[in-house]
Amino acid sequence: MFNRTYLGTIAALMLVTAQAEPAPWMNATLSADQRAELIGAQLTRAEKLVLVRGYFGDDVIINPHYPPPPDAIRKALPRAAGYIPGIPRLGIQAQLETDASLGVSNQRHMRRGDTATALPATLLTASSWNPDIAFQVGAVVGQETRDKGFNILLNGGVDLARDPRNGRNFEYAGEDPLLAGTIAGEAIRGAQSRHIISTAKHYAVNDQEIGRDWLSANLPEKAMRESDLLAFEIAIERGAPGSIMCAYNRVNAVYACENDFLLSKVLKGDWNYPGYVMSDWGGVHSTTKAALAGLDQESAFEFDRDDYFGSALNAALNGPDGAALQARLDNMVHRILRSMFVNGLFDDPAVAGPSDVEAHGAVAQAAAEEGIVLLKNARGLLPLVAGAKRIAVIGGHADIGVLSGGGSAQVMPVGNEPSQEILVGGSGQDASGNARVPLEKKIYDPPSPLAAIKAEARGKVVFDDGSDFAHAAATARHADVAIVFVERWQREGIDTPDITLPGNQDALIAAVAKANKRTIVVLETGNPVAMPWLDNAGAVLETWYPGNRGAVAIARILFGKVNPSGRLPITFPQSLEQLPRPVVPGRDLRQPDNRWTPNETLFDVDYTIEGADIGYKWFAAKKLKPLFPFGYGLSYTTFSFGGLSVSGSAVSFDVRNTGLREGKVVGQIYAATPVAGERLVAFGKVELKPGESKHITLSIDPRLLASFDPAAQMWRVAAGDYSFRLGASSAETSATTTVHMEASTIKP
Ligand code: BGC
Repeated sequence: MFNRTYLGTIAALMLVTAQAEPAPWMNATLSADQRAELIGAQLTRAEKLVLVRGYFGDDVIINPHYPPPPDAIRKALPRAAGYIPGIPRLGIQAQLETDASLGVSNQRHMRRGDTATALPATLLTASSWNPDIAFQVGAVVGQETRDKGFNILLNGGVDLARDPRNGRNFEYAGEDPLLAGTIAGEAIRGAQSRHIISTAKHYAVNDQEIGRDWLSANLPEKAMRESDLLAFEIAIERGAPGSIMCAYNRVNAVYACENDFLLSKVLKGDWNYPGYVMSDWGGVHSTTKAALAGLDQESAFEFDRDDYFGSALNAALNGPDGAALQARLDNMVHRILRSMFVNGLFDDPAVAGPSDVEAHGAVAQAAAEEGIVLLKNARGLLPLVAGAKRIAVIGGHADIGVLSGGGSAQVMPVGNEPSQEILVGGSGQDASGNARVPLEKKIYDPPSPLAAIKAEARGKVVFDDGSDFAHAAATARHADVAIVFVERWQREGIDTPDITLPGNQDALIAAVAKANKRTIVVLETGNPVAMPWLDNAGAVLETWYPGNRGAVAIARILFGKVNPSGRLPITFPQSLEQLPRPVVPGRDLRQPDNRWTPNETLFDVDYTIEGADIGYKWFAAKKLKPLFPFGYGLSYTTFSFGGLSVSGSAVSFDVRNTGLREGKVVGQIYAATPVAGERLVAFGKVELKPGESKHITLSIDPRLLASFDPAAQMWRVAAGDYSFRLGASSAETSATTTVHMEASTIKP
């Protein structure tokens, strides 16, 4: 007879033996593909189906046709934007997804106390024109993603800014494929350096918000390859995102999440993308079509009209397309697991814990300081070094914080207080009965600009909320300098009808500028705005949505502790008439109340108008003069460029700081090919002490000198003369050179 102790010893020994032999897929010397293969072979069909279909990671009921989410979700902390259960018997952890574009978003919960570092908006990171800054920002968001126990970040917005009214431009990286792809790619690489999966999104041509579930973005393949797709291609090459989120909209009449051309032909075929495609929330419209086109995972199925990748896929596996679907199901699972292995989800799983918000705040501040763009500085009004004994700070809720953008990206910032939230919307529909305007809060990120300015100023600082123009003008008149804060709130799901500052803020600036010539305008906007008061303003700063340390960055730029070096990643038009589409398409169509309303209003958006000529390229092609050109931005010092030479794919030039202060400058190289107008082909940011010069060499991606030939399915560099231009913006020329090139081709 064995006694209990002996049995216990045997059990313990068996456990040790079991622990000593980890599962074969935990062998980190194997490739991610091999590991995914090994574990995939263990999965039952039911388990595979679990991995390809996600829940909304919240306990709210999204679709009344579906049962409430399983208990696991209700109990899951933190609540996520998306949740895919794990397979515990094989050690496959649950996928917990969170947004992303401004920092770790807390979805719609906005629970007090659950805060995250509000990073500058992606558009501001893009304004830094500094890939290192983008990497650092991405790494902070990636770290906080882990710290909150999430393992998938819905980051990497890289849709191009075709329209300065797009409600999500603040989540994206501007209008140029090279700049946007580089910045988004580095942000993804930074995030994934923290052993989580990041997406790139929204694939593809999700370039406006109005009617995003119903519109078809129409443009020929050539133009798409040279613009929106090129931005994704560059971002994917640089960042290697574990997942790509397909977009809500249709592209050339086919929904992006069931678009064989986008998913199978281009992404997985031409680009050889090895990760998985997840749908946007509510972006799936079919089972067999989507699965065979290349969708790998249905996100938050409650947002879709049917349980497409759940019960419907299970049924379809037994139907006429069963064999093809089975092969796809195996491949979907392989791709998901492969990305989990590549990004360390098995080897270094996220463990919730406190975040180092001090260190993360320092990165947020560095990014804001590099991205804020000085647009005007008449008679050296800035920096405010001396003589400002009395400073008037006016408007823009500058006494509570800096504005942030709304929607799924909304972050509850570190230091949040109820007094920093202002309710907006709530009418259900806008004035013309179209777009839905939900009741929600505009969130202001602390600290306040007022506090930050007081911390820097030597003189007295007074605040006027700007609601009474006469009073604001009087406050400005009695001050040495007036700093007017103005704002334009943007959110996901809604485009603005115009580029005008809302609520009489133009009149406020005009009144203040009339009362005091030393008026500085600080813009907190998610997009370019018109500036009818520009001639009368002494100085103008564009800060976009600058995040948790934005106010500190603004104050340090105003008082000269930081020399501004941001450059515009998007053209500022003078008026809507200059745009390819003066009215946002679909604006006057009555949209259904929700995605499940059967009578959809399908409509087309004609992007053939500008094709690949987005932003500055459109302005150049149409010979239009913008208010501020792409690439523009001032400094407190001056620079000179010269010595431009191009040899093969290398371009080099000299840059010298000719002023009295240390500063950073962005050398921008534009090239006109024999068959197309100018485009940005290289850029580099350098820091120079007064009098210092540097010789810079950059490499040019040959695709930027080529045109896409859809018939031959390749990039073609045409034989002929290429003119290269070096400048401080798309509209300034410091040096030019012409180089003859022979014809060549590049495989996509
Ligand atoms: C947005 C995505 C976001 C997702 C999850 C969607 O509405 O378009 O960008 O990642 O929601 O919150």
